[in-house]
Amino acid sequence: IKTIGVLTSGGDAPGMNAAIRAVVRKAIANGVKVKGIKKGYKGLLNEEIIDMEKKDVSDTIERGGTILGTARCPEFKTEETQLKAAEICQKHGIDGLVVIGGDGSYRGAQALARHGINTIGLPGTIDLDIACTEYTIGFDTAINTAMQAIDKIRDTSSSHERCSIIEVMGRNAGYIALWCGVANGAEDILLPEKYDFNEQNIINNIINNRKRGKTHHIIINAEGIGHSTSMARRIEAATGIETRATILGYMQRGGSPTCKDRFYASIMGAYAADIICEGKSNRVVGYQHGEFVDFDIEDALAMQKTIPEYQYQVSRILSL
Ligand code: F6P
Repeated sequence: IKTIGVLTSGGDAPGMNAAIRAVVRKAIANGVKVKGIKKGYKGLLNEEIIDMEKKDVSDTIERGGTILGTARCPEFKTEETQLKAAEICQKHGIDGLVVIGGDGSYRGAQALARHGINTIGLPGTIDLDIACTEYTIGFDTAINTAMQAIDKIRDTSSSHERCSIIEVMGRNAGYIALWCGVANGAEDILLPEKYDFNEQNIINNIINNRKRGKTHHIIINAEGIGHSTSMARRIEAATGIETRATILGYMQRGGSPTCKDRFYASIMGAYAADIICEGKSNRVVGYQHGEFVDFDIEDALAMQKTIPEYQYQVSRILSL
């Protein structure tokens, strides 16, 4: 391996810059050249490729977003596009590619590996919804950002004796909702993996809590359930208690990464650089049981994970 590329793909996540920085610096330390590919697979197809030196990643570890830019690229699913991308890599002398993104981005990496480009995936998503790893780059920052926002909403909710539904991101997964629900001491935590669509339970809970003297009622609703605004209207009509919905949205994806995201992303980026320089391909890096590990992409994509039952049960007991 003489030259590798690095790109970020899919939704951005805080800590991606730490990962890029580590890939660049570790690969160069291993004697390998690095090219940055802008705007994910879209940028690769448009040949938006730049040389990267150690100094090009200075002053980036503390920055949110991704210095390379990112994009979703649905057209990358076709064989024709994948072949074109592999040819572009060859044309630019790129014999290995580190892809930082989620499951969809891994499928692209797998396709490129089939076409002769060595690829390694790094888990970059705030959603924590990648089965082969207990940690994804950006999750820690996103939950801390959301937690702080929810604390603020709780203040005003208590002052006005309102019920607040706060919708957090996570696509179809409820990890952000679970973590914030517990960390913010929410009264109800709605997870797509567990939700039974029985609003009467929530309504009863609100009424009982009000009778017990609680001045607020915080409901954390996951994006995978959604419909927070109409849910708020129905709850207000049923309880007679003013109910407001807040959709936290993209603020959860931005901001300076936490120490944990900077550290884990740095180690994972360096790990990816090492294994790609050794000639490994079609692998993804993960974090399992306290260790950084790598898996075959196909095996990683076949793995499944869901909300841990014990964590869910505890979240229900603690939210009253
Ligand atoms: O995967 C990260 C994420 O923020 C999800 O939580 C959300 O469902 C999605 O991306 C939003 O995607 P987009 O940036 O395309 O609107």
